Amino acid sequence: MVNFHIITLFPEALGGYLNSSMLWRAQKEKKIKIYLHNPRNYSLDKHKKVDGRPYGGGPGMVMSVEPLLRNIKAIEKKYLKAKSDKLKALVIITSPAGKVFDNKLAKTMSVKYNNVIIVCGHYEGIDARLKKILKAGKFKVEDVSIGPYVLTGGELPALVMADAISRQIEGVLGNDESLEEKRVSSSETYTRPEVYTHNKKKYKVPKVLLSGHHKEIEKWKEMRIKRGTNADETQTDADKTRKITT
Ligand code: ADE
Repeated sequence: MVNFHIITLFPEALGGYLNSSMLWRAQKEKKIKIYLHNPRNYSLDKHKKVDGRPYGGGPGMVMSVEPLLRNIKAIEKKYLKAKSDKLKALVIITSPAGKVFDNKLAKTMSVKYNNVIIVCGHYEGIDARLKKILKAGKFKVEDVSIGPYVLTGGELPALVMADAISRQIEGVLGNDESLEEKRVSSSETYTRPEVYTHNKKKYKVPKVLLSGHHKEIEKWKEMRIKRGTNADETQTDADKTRKITT
């Protein structure tokens, strides 16, 4: 079981996705729990302010340390009661400048941590003292990026990471889906109809997939993976190379 604590100024923006489909099922089956927290509720400012202008100048606003720290402390008090809970907790700070997230990192996180706290960055970033204070307090903290582009906030990265980590947890995917894991990243798949006509052109399912010849199908799939061929090319290729005998 992994508890996700997502700290976001826009919790309402995340609920729809988290409460649908696989993540909903994973929550129902108690493989994961997702808690949404709004740092605004932890602001001591009378206007509930959560940001300020950057020291040293520069554009935009920076998220203040206090509401975020108080929020994380509240999570610690309620969910990380035992000493060992803290050892198995990770704070992720979403940042386009962080370590790049991938499936391997998702897998590691899914086995190493019971509580994953994701702080969704906004504006021009987060006061750097948050990380320093958390580290001094023995929290494991990582800046993580989901890719080489800059988004307007950390909410999408939080969803991406919660999703990718969850599907690495045993039992979240069905057995068949887990077995397919290696192929998912590169496979080219088809379903009915066998021939789809669009603008008078016929798009056929590659014959090998209809052959029932499992060894040949595997070989074909591996070849597609090696070549990194996309689906469009395959349609024409496959139509030309129907050499498979059944
Ligand atoms: N915040 C803005 N862009 C981001 C990215 N690519 N990854 C993580 N957090 C971000």
